[in-house]
Amino acid sequence: MSANTANKKFSSEIVVLHGSPHNDSYTEKLTAAYLEQLESTAYVRHVDLFETRIKPCTDCKYCYKHDGCPLHDSFESIADKLDQADAIILSTPVYYLGFPAPFKAFIDRTQQLFVRRVLFKREKIANNKKGILICTCGGCDLSAVESLKAPAEMFFSVFGATLSETVYLAGTDLPPEKRRCNRIKLIEKEMSK
Ligand SMILES: Cc1cc2nc3c(=O)[nH]c(=O)nc-3n(C[C@H](O)[C@H](O)[C@H](O)COP(=O)(O)O)c2cc1C
Repeated sequence: MSANTANKKFSSEIVVLHGSPHNDSYTEKLTAAYLEQLESTAYVRHVDLFETRIKPCTDCKYCYKHDGCPLHDSFESIADKLDQADAIILSTPVYYLGFPAPFKAFIDRTQQLFVRRVLFKREKIANNKKGILICTCGGCDLSAVESLKAPAEMFFSVFGATLSETVYLAGTDLPPEKRRCNRIKLIEKEMSK
């Protein structure tokens, strides 16, 4: 349990990084359904990466010689939250077998932490977090889901998290008769309420 949840009714703290540009979309519904079972025990913080507009890494190499980054935006405060959390959820649609641009920008900015913590070991990583990947993709080819796992694992490692669960919904862009995935029907029922 992290320090700032110790005196509250919650037993753990979760940070959700949201990568869909849409409210109420398949990705958001799937994530909300996943969180429903946890919200009574976990304190959940939400970060909308389309809103925060994190600047992209320019590979200036500043972080090889110094702690920190010359780019200034809300990256640091979000990274602090991820460090404090007990679990990190990446909630995202698949875009071209990868993360949407604002999400990728955030991931790339963790290079400063990768250099400091993993490459040069100037800072210790506490290995005790859960990493969860929640994603949706338009087609039914599950290689789209697989394509996010390696970058998600690398991202999680910087915060001492391991990918422990992948939740997905495939075929969101296909007409209903072409969907081979049954789980989507449950979500559609939820959405029509
Ligand atoms: C730019 C872009 C790239 C996409 N690339 C893929 C892809 O590589 N594979 C796939 O199955 N779906 C792809 N899709 C479809 C989305 O993953 C799918 O519509 C997703 O469910 C959207 O989620 P949302 O409505 O919750 O944002 C892409 C969509 C966009 C806009």
